[in-house]
Amino acid sequence: MTETLRVDRDPAGYALVTLDRPKALNALNLQTLNEVVTAFAELDADPSVSVIVITGSEKAFAAGADIKEMKDITFSEAYASDWFAGWDAVKRVRKPIIAAVSGFALGGGCELAMMCDILLASDTAKFGQPEIKLGVLPGMGGSQRLTRAVGKAKAMDMCLTGRTIDAEEAERAGLVSRIIPADELLDETKKIATEVAGMSTPATMMVKESINRSFETSLSEGILFERRVFHATFATHDQSEGMAAFAEKRKPNFTDS
Ligand code: CAA
Repeated sequence: MTETLRVDRDPAGYALVTLDRPKALNALNLQTLNEVVTAFAELDADPSVSVIVITGSEKAFAAGADIKEMKDITFSEAYASDWFAGWDAVKRVRKPIIAAVSGFALGGGCELAMMCDILLASDTAKFGQPEIKLGVLPGMGGSQRLTRAVGKAKAMDMCLTGRTIDAEEAERAGLVSRIIPADELLDETKKIATEVAGMSTPATMMVKESINRSFETSLSEGILFERRVFHATFATHDQSEGMAAFAEKRKPNFTDS
């Protein structure tokens, strides 16, 4: 039983995780952290789920880590408990994760969205790393993932001033892949999730693994990794089916095998 989020599995092959702490604008406390990583691990292991979607409310995807929960912790407590390290579990999820962001995605909210694989924004979305205004800095990967997504100039600007950027600026900067009108965000996201879930799941997982490898390795090693994984797809039924269907001018029937 979860208290800070809802999980709904759809027969189309995706699961929708909805952050649900409206009174705190979905601020991410330890309970939310535990519920998100537990839900993600269960969905990652569930063969009926090929894609995970995470969203918030229209007003807030998440307004950051829970400031009230952490304001009185000491350095020793933060260090000993490795505060925020639990979020590393998100990067171990092997199936694609789509973040559908409406309203505020600030601090840890922006960082959680950036841990996902496809980042969709409603036209009301606002992204920012305002931690500097609290006398701290991003702690869930913002200084690293934001810099890789938007480059040094904008990451420095955002993290040093704490200013938020709107959906258009986020798209121009490469932080999000699409902007969708707020009232259509959920429906459009479900369509995209259905589309990805309809692909061969081993192939979508390999895409995720290969693209993520590019952030961790040299270009030549990354290209070699991609080529070997590409070769591996020839061991799948879905490769035979996908290529046969193209040649026979019909829709492929992927079986995730
Ligand atoms: N933590 C705890 N509570 C939060 C919160 C947060 N990050 N963000 C909002 N809330 C709470 C507010 O305290 C308020 O609660 P009360 O009604 O009990 O006072 C409720 O949510 C509604 O918020 P507001 O009244 O402030 O709503 P608003 O529409 O006037 O403003 C906002 C919205 C601009 C997002 C503002 O709430 C805000 O600035 N929030 C904090 C944003 C922030 O600094 N995030 C970074 C957190 S630190 C972090 O994330 C570290 C990291 O790297 C992981």
